[in-house]
Amino acid sequence: MDRKTIDALLNKIDASATHEGDARTRAIVNRVVRDLFYTIEDLDVQPDEFWAALNFLAEAGKSGELGLIAPGLGFEHFLDLRLDEAEQKAGLAGGTPRTIEGPLYVAGAPESVGHARLDNGDEPGETLVMRGRVLGEDGAPVGGALVEVWHANHLGNYSYFDASQPAFNLRRSIRTNADGTYSFRSVVPIGYSVPPEGKTKQLLDSLGRHGHRPAHIHFFVSAPGFRKLTTQINIEGDPYLWDDFAFATREGLVPAVKKEEGAAGKPYDVSGQFALIDFDFTLVHDRQGLPSTEVERVRAEAA
Ligand code: DHB
Ligand code: FE
Repeated sequence: MDRKTIDALLNKIDASATHEGDARTRAIVNRVVRDLFYTIEDLDVQPDEFWAALNFLAEAGKSGELGLIAPGLGFEHFLDLRLDEAEQKAGLAGGTPRTIEGPLYVAGAPESVGHARLDNGDEPGETLVMRGRVLGEDGAPVGGALVEVWHANHLGNYSYFDASQPAFNLRRSIRTNADGTYSFRSVVPIGYSVPPEGKTKQLLDSLGRHGHRPAHIHFFVSAPGFRKLTTQINIEGDPYLWDDFAFATREGLVPAVKKEEGAAGKPYDVSGQFALIDFDFTLVHDRQGLPSTEVERVRAEAA
């Protein structure tokens, strides 16, 4: 079928509207449907292929995996790059690089000031201390900033989604001290893989791709007057460090992991050997006329 015939059909569909509806939704849906009609035509998509795709999406929705497919297909990283571009054009620079939130944040984690312990002492693995400051792009410390941190356990699983872990295991919210400092004690996470029996895995298999992420730690860093930062740090040396199925590893987000022991652990109540990461977060001041980095999406919330 030629483009003209397809366009005539699309115009007929849009012209069937009896009231305005929502103009933005209408523009986006019309555009997506147009692109899909062209795809079906150009790739000669057969009815059984079309229904298989629709059924796939329905099942992925039912099993709660659409939030995994979005990063896996690169959408979440693409949205990051678009925010980077908008900020660059506005002359905003100097902040810690952003990278994807992923689908596994849970709101409501316990909050403390200055320091937190993320594990309850039963967690296998290497003890980790991470510490640093929250700064503005001018280098001034930001006291009272909120550092929300979450990461996987030694099996690559996240509490809440993995019901075998205690509530809010490896999830905390830490307010920086007046001098902008924060620290936490936890265990070094290992890499994450998409559920082996799930729809994301099925899709990645058929694309000839893997579903592994390098070991990482997630953060939201926010403070009044600053743009909210969504980011992660990666654990150096991970075999998937630059081969992340979600494309989230970025220069500037791979801090050194130092081996420490003895007196160095005292301030954090750690004895023996531990891994130490020093990392400062730099926020940029809020600016009118830029897309917000406070992204609205449905998130899990636990009490
Ligand atoms: C996915 C998992 C993560 O831990 C993450 O940070 C990002 C994405 C996922 O399964 O898609
Ligand atoms: Fe993650």
